[in-house]
Amino acid sequence: MAGEDRERWDAKHRALGTGTPLPPDALRGHLDLVPDRGRALDVACGRGAVAVWLAGRGLDVVAVDVSPAGLAAGGELATAEQPPGRIRWVEADLDDGFPVEDGVYDVVVCQRFRAPALYPALAAAVAPGGLLAISVLSEVGDAGGRFRAGPGELVRAFGELEIVAHHEDAGEAHLLARRPPRET
Ligand SMILES: C[S@@+](CC[C@H](N)C(=O)[O-])C[C@H]1O[C@@H](n2cnc3c(N)ncnc32)[C@H](O)[C@@H]1O
Repeated sequence: MAGEDRERWDAKHRALGTGTPLPPDALRGHLDLVPDRGRALDVACGRGAVAVWLAGRGLDVVAVDVSPAGLAAGGELATAEQPPGRIRWVEADLDDGFPVEDGVYDVVVCQRFRAPALYPALAAAVAPGGLLAISVLSEVGDAGGRFRAGPGELVRAFGELEIVAHHEDAGEAHLLARRPPRET
């Protein structure tokens, strides 16, 4: 990512300041599926609203973003909320690849950050029985543009997982998917 893009995200996050914990959009209506222990990964976590929410459920979270200001706001939110789960904040540029090598996660979230090159790594990061919650801007119900997913992009990309819910409308696409539990 170019330096000025990072500065733009920093300025945006700084202007918005500390947020509030929020579940990921793709999990709306399915919160009962979220485990209360285990590991979660939040890719492009912004100001940490989802990461802190997941930690509030009891999950230990790795939260990755390129913006130091976003990560700092996440840290402040975690300090204020004192969630039971731990959060590791990782500053990394996802344009350089997937920075998280340490195994698989019970919940993987990627929200409002569309990076098709990372879709295989996101799928591979979902543990057996784990959930993927992903949301991107979509051409469906919008004028389109190079940052938006075409119709069916998420379903095609994550076809190896079981689709729990998929929704494309009003310029957004949400997918909730699960990797089947390992057979014993
Ligand atoms: C629209 S925000 C979404 C933040 C959060 N996921 C949410 O739903 O509130 C997009 C985030 O992606 C981050 N981002 C953009 N490009 C990135 C990159 N190349 N590597 C890591 N993070 C990036 C930005 O810093 C920003 O926090």
